[in-house]
Amino acid sequence: MIPPMISPATGIIQRDSALENHKLQFWCPVKSSCEFNNMIPKEFRHGFIGMVGNTPLIRFNNLSEKTGCEITAKAEHLNPGGSVKDRAALYLIKEAEEKGQSSKQMSLTTFLEKIDILNTLGADVRPVPAVPFDDPMNYNHQARRFAEGIENAIWTNQFDNISNRRAHFEMTGPEIWQQTDGRISAVTFSTGTGGTIAGVGSFLKSKNPNVKVILADPEGSVLYNYFKHGELKRSDGSSITEGIGQGRVTTNLQGAPIDDAVFVTDKEAVEMTFFLLHEEGFFVGASSGLNVAAAVKVRNEWKRLIQQGEVR
Ligand SMILES: Cc1ncc(COP(=O)(O)O)c(C=O)c1O
Repeated sequence: MIPPMISPATGIIQRDSALENHKLQFWCPVKSSCEFNNMIPKEFRHGFIGMVGNTPLIRFNNLSEKTGCEITAKAEHLNPGGSVKDRAALYLIKEAEEKGQSSKQMSLTTFLEKIDILNTLGADVRPVPAVPFDDPMNYNHQARRFAEGIENAIWTNQFDNISNRRAHFEMTGPEIWQQTDGRISAVTFSTGTGGTIAGVGSFLKSKNPNVKVILADPEGSVLYNYFKHGELKRSDGSSITEGIGQGRVTTNLQGAPIDDAVFVTDKEAVEMTFFLLHEEGFFVGASSGLNVAAAVKVRNEWKRLIQQGEVR
């Protein structure tokens, strides 16, 4: 008997019974596909979780030509939830499940579009006002109290649970190293929990300590001043960017191998966001614009130092 063949492009299973001189085609119901598991090509992504990570690295052609420097970005919008945060979420939830916990509730402050998506996916979203961390009504404390009061709920605590940075040490960092063939001079990250910069930064440094890890900070955050001057002092303004900027050094950020920090204004972030839209064809959010604006700033600063003979 000729075994079934799975067509990678369509998901159609073909039984090629040449002996019977005819072909049958049928859709494989999800449940029964397990009988063919050993035949599924490696390139298949296994369901929703299989879609997390392994995102392409995009070269921004126009920006790279303009700056004379290869500027690339991870296409994190291709994660199934549409953001880099899927990586941390996967590790936080995996850890909770391994400990026998489960969670069906969540709490956050965020834009309406994201709340709509989460509601559609079945989440119970409780928006709360944004107040400082030392206020008991800060969303972290509310989320913890909320989870404590509900059976079968957990507070994943992405800020201080280091499963977050482990996700980036084990996934994002190795992907970047492999996709650049290790030819990478610097990485820039805006920071919310600190998971991405700490995890990717540590991994890349373990491969090549000369890779520079740069924190990109928006208006109203303390991290620029902290890494530049050692003081937890808020910078001027209050950024429109979402999910980045921080008022404290989270556990995920502690010990992160950060070489330098750059401050990016909202104006600079928004201008770059529109550049990426009009000149590169990518419709991304302002935190992505801010990251790329930071990369250009780092490039310009290095160029200046090289021209002045301060760096070779
Ligand atoms: C849109 C966006 N970009 C970047 C970040 C920062 O990533 P990390 O939390 O790993 O520092 C976040 C975090 O929530 C985010 O929502």
